[in-house]
Amino acid sequence: MRLIRTENYAEMSLEAGKIIIDKIHSNPGLTLGLATGSTPKGVYDYLSQDHKVNGTSYHQVKSINLDEYIGLKVQDPNSYHYFMGQNLFNHLDFHENHTHIPNGAAGDLEQECLRYEQLIKELGGVDLQILGIGQNGHIGFNEPGTPFSSQTHIVTLAKNTREANSRFFNSLEDVPTQAITMGIASILESKEILLLASGERKAEALLKFMNGEISEEFPASALKHHQNVTVIADRDALKYI
Ligand code: GLP
Repeated sequence: MRLIRTENYAEMSLEAGKIIIDKIHSNPGLTLGLATGSTPKGVYDYLSQDHKVNGTSYHQVKSINLDEYIGLKVQDPNSYHYFMGQNLFNHLDFHENHTHIPNGAAGDLEQECLRYEQLIKELGGVDLQILGIGQNGHIGFNEPGTPFSSQTHIVTLAKNTREANSRFFNSLEDVPTQAITMGIASILESKEILLLASGERKAEALLKFMNGEISEEFPASALKHHQNVTVIADRDALKYI
């Protein structure tokens, strides 16, 4: 595992952005695994800015998002579909059929999980996966206790995840109780992984991740089984390391 220490959030975003852009230049048909949340927003701004100024093209790039809430319509401002449109897709030249996010409003959710897992395989797997980390160590929406062998599945969100994400909603009651997420095994199949973390809020999770045991009780620890993980984290997130 490689660690890139940065001074702050802006520098973390820049370092991650540069790696992604380099990969796209060397492989314009890359499959990018994308994440939501506050953490990757700065990276997405950097990619949008670079596209505008330097013209890096995403026309052949495919994207696969990690997760989506169950029960929110695609156009709901809290859905990850909406988030990705606002923060990334509307600013780049992705082909509209090349961006993929689980459908949390599907009639048959079990079938949707199977479809999504199959889709990842059809696209040849994720070349470069961007990940954030939850305060409880979740990756995607894989909460503590999720088997490392899991594929795309339906999850019941942990109480502290709903509390953490309630900052985006009007109230805690409005935060969905379930989501569809790529599983831990699906994530580990990615050829390369960038794990991003910023701020003191993530310091304990990073400490556990870097120094703790590999355990299903701490989902991010599964990444230690992966051969090509780069952690990009800022000074506040690394304050115990
Ligand atoms: C969310 C997402 C994760 C994300 C994490 C951290 O619940 N499902 O993919 O990495 O929590 O979010 P944030 O970056 O806002 O701290």
